Parts: sequence; C-alpha cells; structure tokens
Amino acid sequence: MESGGPLATWRRLLLLLLLLLLPPGHEGPALRHILPTQQRTQDLPALHLTNGPGQEPVTVMTFNLTKMIKTSSSFEFRTWDPEGVIFYGDTNPKDDWFVLGLRDGRPEIQIHNHWAQLTVGAGPQLNDGRWHQMEVKIHGDSVLLEVDGEEVLRLRQVSGPLANKPQPIMRIALGGLLFPASNLRLPLVPALDGCLRRDDWLDQQAQTSASVPASLRSCAVESQPGIFFPPGTGAEFSLQDIPQPHVEPWAFSLDVGLQLAAGSGRFLSLGIPGNPSWLSLHLQDQKVMLSSGLGPGLDLPLVLGLPLQLQLREASSASFCLDGLWAQGQGLDMDRALSRSQDIWTHSCPQSPGNGTDTTH
Ligand SMILES: *[C@@H]1O[C@H](CO)[C@@H](O)[C@H](O)[C@H]1NC(C)=O
Ligand SMILES: *[C@@H]1O[C@H](CO)[C@@H](O)[C@H](O)[C@H]1NC(C)=O
Repeated sequence: MESGGPLATWRRLLLLLLLLLLPPGHEGPALRHILPTQQRTQDLPALHLTNGPGQEPVTVMTFNLTKMIKTSSSFEFRTWDPEGVIFYGDTNPKDDWFVLGLRDGRPEIQIHNHWAQLTVGAGPQLNDGRWHQMEVKIHGDSVLLEVDGEEVLRLRQVSGPLANKPQPIMRIALGGLLFPASNLRLPLVPALDGCLRRDDWLDQQAQTSASVPASLRSCAVESQPGIFFPPGTGAEFSLQDIPQPHVEPWAFSLDVGLQLAAGSGRFLSLGIPGNPSWLSLHLQDQKVMLSSGLGPGLDLPLVLGLPLQLQLREASSASFCLDGLWAQGQGLDMDRALSRSQDIWTHSCPQSPGNGTDTTH
C-alpha cells in the first residue's frame, strides 16, 4: 500500500440522526472445490485462517485411516476474533464430523457421529492476540483438548475404532467447514481472523493429499484489535438487527472509533437503498468532515419503515482502522455485514499502517 503519510487519531465521532429502519437478510456462500496437491509441514510460515468473506476453509487435507497410527493434532493459534472455526474434520459430512472453533473467545467442540452428538465449550478465553498451544487427541473412545499444556476437556464415549469407519478417509479442513454453517449443531460464523503455526495434523504417514493453502493474508504483520480497511475495500450493513430508534425524540446514533487513517476520500455514508448518502464522512488532511447529501437544511425524511443502510467504502487511496463501530449503541460485526470486501481485516489492525496491506505471501 502507499500509506498516505502520517496518521490521524480520532475517537468516537458521534452522529445523531433521526430515523427508523427495516430489514433485508442474507445467507452464506457455497463451497468452492479445492484440488489436492501438496503437504503442509511444520516449518512453513504462520497460516492466516481467512479465505474470502467467510465460510471456506483455507486448506483441506485427507488421511487414510487404515494407515493412521498417530491420532492427535497440535498447533499454535493466535487471534483477536471471538468467533469462528479453527478446524473441521469428518469421514462423512452427514453423520460423522467434528468441529473445533471459538465462541465468545473460548474453545468450543461440536461432535456428531454414531456414538455422540454434542456441543461443549471449555477452556480459557483465547482471543487475546497471543500465541496459544492447542492439542486435540483421540484416545480410545475419548477426545481430549489441551490448551497451553493443560487438559481443559476430556469427552468420554464419543468415538469408536477409527479403522472400522465405513469410509476410511478422514478430511481435515482449516479455517472453515465442508458443509453449510447452518448444518452445525449450534451455528456460528465460521470466518476466523486468526493465524496458525507449527501445526501437525494427525499422522503424516497416512496423509494422502492437501490443497494449496488459499489464504488471503500474511501473518507476518504484528496486529492489534480493531477493524482494518485496506485501500479500496468496503462493507455494507443493513441496520436491521439493532434497536429501533427512540420515538420521542426521534434519534439514531452511530459511533465510529477511528484509530488510524491514511489518505483521503469519503469513507462512510448512511442512507437508504437508492439514496445511500444522506450523511457522509470524508477523510481529508488528517481531518474528518461531515457532509449531507440532503442539502443545507439536513431534512431527514422520517418515513416509517425505510431500510437504513450503512456503507464504509473508501477512495482507493484511503485506508483506516476502526476501534469499533456501533449503531444505537450496539456493536456491528464485520462477519455479519450484508456484504464486504474479502481483504478487510475483520478483527485486527496492523500495528503500523504502512505494513497493513501485505495481502499476499
Ligand atoms: C488406504 O491404505 C490401505 C493400506 O495401505 C490401502 O490398501 C488403501 O487402498 C488405501 N485407501 C485409499 C483410499 O487410499
Ligand atoms: C514494515 O515492516 C518492515 C519489517 O517487517 C519494516 O522494516 C518497515 O519499517 C515497516 N514499515 C512501516 C511503514 O512500518
């Protein structure tokens, strides 16, 4: 990126608007076919778990169960993101699958097979931006989860002999699922803005294929919590799930924590479909300017039931990091945007913006 020079720091721009709102909805994308090719070894650089807007794994490996002796997997994991899929495993996406993810920052395991169907959370909060060591072991009929060297969960009577599976192929997918998120026992948003390194999956002797990791970002940049928009990226929210504005007085609040910004141009607008820029925020000369597309009088049409929408979309030269984004006091999650660019960092920002847009590796 050409970072447009120094950074400005603004905090908490508060817009007060008068409005009402109503909703559309959206659903997850389909799976992409991934070709098997090569193995991933322990010495590779850390792997970012994001592949596009959400649901797809960054890599898929397959193992021949009849050759498998080692039945544990270990890795180090780092994130600021409270929710998403670390890995998925199955021999059959219908009736024999396993997921390790995060919910509210803590590990969650979901299992669905012949012996058990369960969802369980365990262990410490992990979304603190530090590396954590994790290990998942299948031991007899049990599944064990270790975090930073401590056993945090032991599930008994949840597994059977691996060699007896009707299909002797196990698939492991990193950073996503191999079925729609709605098939989970307890749905979560799979996209995880996190990194994985020193990973060692099951038994290398039994590994038969691995797809080339299709991750969009490098993990080399030091990160901090936030939401980062590289130049030319954007996101759109329909403000459907936030609390309704108060009636007396008619008030709507939008709270934008702008942490770092470079470049210039419009970066935020609020409006309705067909008139998306009732109010806009522009970056210029390290200042933020408010403008209205409604003329000098700022007459906001208080028509009941208009679907209010929020766009963050910059000029190609601007980039910025947000502490967060709140409408009516409620945080907006990039993973639940109506649409967004694939290279937005949904839960992190580069510590120095000059290094933020190393999107390839
Ligand atoms: C799995 O390994 C066994 C034993 O080496 C072999 O006979 C079988 O063909 C393999 N299956 C697949 C699908 O590769
Ligand atoms: C980006 O990172 C490299 C090394 O990782 C460093 O040498 C360089 O100064 C950084 N650039 C900025 C603008 O921070």
